Amino acid sequence: MAVWLAQWLGPLLLVSLWGLLAPASLLRRLGEHIQQFQESSAQGLGLSLGPGAAALPKVGWLEQLLDPFNVSDRRSFLQRYWVNDQHWVGQDGPIFLHLGGEGSLGPGSVMRGHPAALAPAWGALVISLEHRFYGLSIPAGGLEMAQLRFLSSRLALADVVSARLALSRLFNISSSSPWICFGGSYAGSLAAWARLKFPHLIFASVASSAPVRAVLDFSEYNDVVSRSLMSTAIGGSLECRAAVSVAFAEVERRLRSGGAAQAALRTELSACGPLGRAENQAELLGALQALVGGVVQYDGQTGAPLSVRQLCGLLLGGGGNRSHSTPYCGLRRAVQIVLHSLGQKCLSFSRAETVAQLRSTEPQLSGVGDRQWLYQTCTEFGFWDTDPWHVLSVTQALGSSESTLLIRTGSHCLDMAPERPSDSPSLRLGRQNIFQQLQTWLKLAKESQIKGEV
Ligand SMILES: *[C@@H]1O[C@H](CO)[C@@H](O)[C@H](O)[C@H]1NC(C)=O
Ligand SMILES: *[C@@H]1O[C@H](CO)[C@@H](O)[C@H](O)[C@H]1NC(C)=O
Ligand SMILES: *[C@@H]1O[C@H](CO)[C@@H](O)[C@H](O)[C@H]1NC(C)=O
Repeated sequence: MAVWLAQWLGPLLLVSLWGLLAPASLLRRLGEHIQQFQESSAQGLGLSLGPGAAALPKVGWLEQLLDPFNVSDRRSFLQRYWVNDQHWVGQDGPIFLHLGGEGSLGPGSVMRGHPAALAPAWGALVISLEHRFYGLSIPAGGLEMAQLRFLSSRLALADVVSARLALSRLFNISSSSPWICFGGSYAGSLAAWARLKFPHLIFASVASSAPVRAVLDFSEYNDVVSRSLMSTAIGGSLECRAAVSVAFAEVERRLRSGGAAQAALRTELSACGPLGRAENQAELLGALQALVGGVVQYDGQTGAPLSVRQLCGLLLGGGGNRSHSTPYCGLRRAVQIVLHSLGQKCLSFSRAETVAQLRSTEPQLSGVGDRQWLYQTCTEFGFWDTDPWHVLSVTQALGSSESTLLIRTGSHCLDMAPERPSDSPSLRLGRQNIFQQLQTWLKLAKESQIKGEV
């Protein structure tokens, strides 16, 4: 079943939701901010395509079974997908299926970014599929615990399979058209698993920054953040890494001192409330850690409030006035910059507030689904950084059919982002490698089409 709405949901999805900023999720808010920023640029792109472009991309809905593993359960839900058919050469052309992960998917998912940029070269049809329980693809009953048991990567993969079959019928796609999955981060893992589990349906997958290994205690996350802060290729240095330690030590010292030092800390970090309770102090440190981790994770991405180079500049005393500035002052400045770009008046760090937000079963229409993602990390993946993602990924080739690529200066999923003049040589080379790999695969697909083997 498909319901076509030839209209933009874009403006609706761009509604800002920065009303509350839960500390533990500062990293996700940063990711969301960057995604929304890129989505809003996608709109500009869509509208500048000239006559006929207003109908692009199209949104549709697939009726999916809530529990495809239980034949006596006939309940279903509507799963959202987006389609960009402007480059599609028709029936035999390849299909680029961009998988959604732990957040909503907007029109930009088929208009911008690497899958869309690659489409013209092969005349591909670009389709994106929102993950069940995120964005608008939420089953009846919402996010109640009883419903969340139908949220898992296994069920998401079952959705990919039934979407693949339903969309083939809907678009009259020839059975010899190769389907290639794309995804970044968790969705990258889904892309990889989709190919491994359903090789008869998914011809190949490009999995970006995919943490395919589950881990409970993810202390390596901070190791990678630390190495990145020292990497001169992206503006880091040994001094910068040391300055971060000094700044955090100063925050901890002020927290422990209590009294006036703690009150001053609250003002200086624009914290939303008093810092007395130990659990809130822990959340505050978590928020600051997420801020530094977020700068590394989203380094160099359009819409990121700070790059590693800029953060290091602040921590090492900005305009060269080292005598005056301390790393702590630099961290304060970094907090202000990030809060400003997220549209926040103050830095929230209340454990009670975080828990209350996670308890809410009201779905968020856009952005990351915190409650759902916490459920998935609890039931499937862990990923609790006790403290990036590439340490959980596969960065060495497993064989000729599973090639891997590590982009040394690339931040999380950066290869999925639209190309920019400022892209680093290693990122350009990385994208080129993906292009060449696709070329090899699609040539193979073409050969088997001719032989009628697919
Ligand atoms: C399968 O679905 C039926 C009908 O909804 C339900 O009664 C049964 O408990 C389900 N079985 C499992 C294993 O979930
Ligand atoms: C679907 O494609 C086949 C060729 O593969 C063609 O014969 C048929 O007319 C098409 N159906 C529709 C509804 O476009
Ligand atoms: C550096 O800081 C000192 C002390 O506040 C100030 O007097 C001086 O003008 C500053 N220098 C520059 C270059 O900003």
